[in-house]
Parts: sequence; structure tokens; C-alpha cells
Amino acid sequence: MKKYFVIGNPIDHSLSPKLHNHWLKENNIDAIYDKKKIDENDIENIITKLKNKQISGINVTVPFKKIVIPYLDKLSLEAEQTQSVNTILLNNDNLEGHNTDIVGFIKSIKNLNFDIKDKKIFILGAGGVVPSIIFALNKLNVSKIIISNRTKKKAEDLKSQFNNLEILDWGDINDFDVIINATSLGLNKESINLDFSKFTNNKLFYDVIYNPAETNFLKEGKKLGNRTENGKLMFIYQAFEAFKLWHGVEPQINSNTLEIIKND
Ligand code: ATR
Repeated sequence: MKKYFVIGNPIDHSLSPKLHNHWLKENNIDAIYDKKKIDENDIENIITKLKNKQISGINVTVPFKKIVIPYLDKLSLEAEQTQSVNTILLNNDNLEGHNTDIVGFIKSIKNLNFDIKDKKIFILGAGGVVPSIIFALNKLNVSKIIISNRTKKKAEDLKSQFNNLEILDWGDINDFDVIINATSLGLNKESINLDFSKFTNNKLFYDVIYNPAETNFLKEGKKLGNRTENGKLMFIYQAFEAFKLWHGVEPQINSNTLEIIKND
């Protein structure tokens, strides 16, 4: 039986095993997908197991998406440009790193029927998933990307990777059409200490968090009359793309799939 893993730290919250195992069963694929909490010094060992075909594929999550890169032989263009890998596979004895978060984000936006082209985007946070979101937004031809992070240095580091960014101090707010929460604020019912009261309609409030399904950030955006969206479809579509890369099959996304990743 083939084995797949998602590696990260923490990893308890990950719903990837639930989703992948559901799709494996649905497609009659003889494989199992599990989660593994690792430390940085375990990375070499687990990647060697992939090289030796003891395991067949790895998803990578926070905080290892960049750290795995030196262990790989090849990167997709998207993984190279974002310096972020979330899916690893062995292809002709080459360890390949891919980034399916980008397509995940793009598909989640397309699914909204929200015309994001030429829109002004304000990103909160500069953590592991943000390079993928910026890459995706540039592909979607947005007009401007403003970013604000508690630790300003991390936002500045991103600017050396993506030169079209504007940086704001944490706590300041700028005019926007779309605001994206990519911080971890909201995972544990925290609010974001910003005054959104000027932004009262037709804006899009997007939260990368999908569990809880509605963070205080989304609640507030909605109360002010704006559209809101959580990160559920981004999560599902990144898994969809990884599944396709590993198994050559497009798994089904339907109401069943959405039900499966409800974490209750
Ligand atoms: P990592 O930073 O390891 O990549 P992440 O979950 O991808 O982890 O990112 C967490 C994001 O939430 C970061 O942007 C972090 O800001 P810092 O870079 O300053 O750490 C942000 N974050 C977490 N707790 C926060 C808080 N209490 N206030 C503001 N931002 C916070």
C-alpha cells in the first residue's frame, strides 16, 4: 500500500488526511495518507524515504514550506518563484517540489465570481502562505498590493521577492477593494485590532482561515455589508491539485467534500 504524509509543526489541526483518504477511497486507490509532526532535523530523513520509494508523496505545511527546498532536485516555476513548496513527489528519480497553494487561491477566487482584476488588495500577515497569495494576485492582474505585518521586517523581505508591494505599519489601514487575513488571528477567536468601519459595502473580506468557518474578521466584514469568503475552497483546491499530481486523477469536489472537512 502506498503511503502519503503531510508534514508540519503543529499538525494536529490538519484536515488533509480526512480529505485525501476520502478521495483515495472514492477512486479505489490502494494508499493511505497520514499526518506527521516533525522537527526541522527530521526533514532529511523523511525526504530520503520518498527518494527510496518507501513513501510516495509528501505535503508540506507551516513552517517547512521553504526549508524543504534544498533537499529537492527540481522545483516547478511557481515553487521556484515563491520559494514555497507544499507538494513533493518523485518523478524519474528526481525529487520535485510543487506549489499548489497558488492554484488553490486562484480557483477559490474564480469560484466567487468576483472580478478581482484591477482591484486594490490589502494583505494582513506575511507568513508561509503569503508569497503564494501574492504570486496568485499578480497572475490575476490586480492593480495594487498593500501588505502589513506585525513584524515589519518580514513584509520588507517579501518586497525583495515581489517588488510591486507597498508596505504599511501594523495597525494602519489603507483604502482597499479586497482585504485578506493571512495572519493566524482568528484561529482562536481573536479579533484584528483595525477599524474597518469605513469599508461598508462591495468590498471582499477574505480569510485564509477556514476553521472556524467564520472568524471575527469575517463577521465584522459581513456586518458592514461586504462580501466574505473563508479559506475552505483554497484548502480543497490545493489538495485537489496535489491529488492530481500524485495519482493522475481529478477527485470530485461536491457537497460531500465540503461536509468532510467540517471539523467538529
Ligand atoms: P509563520 O510566521 O511561521 O510563517 P504563519 O502561521 O504562516 O507562521 O504566519 C503567522 C502570521 O500571523 C504572521 O504574519 C504573524 O505575524 P509575525 O510575522 O509578526 O509573527 C501573524 N500573527 C500571529 N499572531 C499575531 C498577533 N498576535 N498579532 C499580529 N499578527 C500576528
